[in-house]
Amino acid sequence: CMVYLYGGQVTSWKNNSGEQQLFLSKKASFKPPKAIRGGIQICFPQLGNHGVVEQHGFARNRLWSVDESPPLPDTTSDCHIDLILKQSEEDMKTWPHSYELRLQVALSPRGDLILTSRIKNKNADGKPFQFTFAYHTYFSVSDISEVRVEGLDTLDYHDNLQSKIRCTEQGDAVVFESEVDRIYLSAPPKIVTIDHEKKRTFVLRKKELPDVVVWNPWDRKAKAMPDFGAEEYKCMLCVGAARIEKPITLRPGEEWQGRQEISPVPSSYSSGLLDPEMIQQMQRI
Ligand code: BG6
Repeated sequence: CMVYLYGGQVTSWKNNSGEQQLFLSKKASFKPPKAIRGGIQICFPQLGNHGVVEQHGFARNRLWSVDESPPLPDTTSDCHIDLILKQSEEDMKTWPHSYELRLQVALSPRGDLILTSRIKNKNADGKPFQFTFAYHTYFSVSDISEVRVEGLDTLDYHDNLQSKIRCTEQGDAVVFESEVDRIYLSAPPKIVTIDHEKKRTFVLRKKELPDVVVWNPWDRKAKAMPDFGAEEYKCMLCVGAARIEKPITLRPGEEWQGRQEISPVPSSYSSGLLDPEMIQQMQRI
């Protein structure tokens, strides 16, 4: 696993066989003003462009620090790093709040990637603040047209390609044949991304993050992004836990905590037929 102080961003997460599980664009920029294109971006204090700060917030393109006084880890893992971001004078001009954003990145002994964020209101003026949040997670996939995302069926979503209108998912899984840019609302705590060709499944578990971002730019938008290869949309998919529809409000002294865990399962898994070995493996996870 590799974590950058720039953006507090995980950019690499490999399995035991050394295979990369996160997508990182070959054209990614690692310095301001762009965020690193790939890995897991921390979107705070806003997801999208509806708000007072830049698209997806400023946290993903600020330099974080190693947290010298982190809270006790929630995991049993010894393998973790704690980072922290605090307000800067510059950011106070557009978002005048004093906060602490702590991020713990942990790897479990079996290789799960666990991200825990804690956000605290440190305002001395007695004022609350409100924010939205997301782990904008770029998965590496073998062929986007062979990927399905399960766990989102029958849910409502905002379609960013249709002026954010509210739609309802009709399929039993989300599949990809063109650009997809959606925010699924009030999703269950477990979402599964199945990469049939690679025979690999990512089980994403989330806490305090009811919504789910699903995004693939497809060919036209891919070509228009300067930090993204024209063909790279074929081997990536963003599926990330988020809190968007109901923003969080924190009064001074209050803290919020949100968590995303991803477990790779090295075989194909579908809601239809499962082989017995797979069922056992899934149950262990
Ligand atoms: C998604 C948005 O979450 O992120 C898309 O819904 C956007 O509209 C995409 O294109 C990437 O955003 P950015 O700011 O990293 O280019």
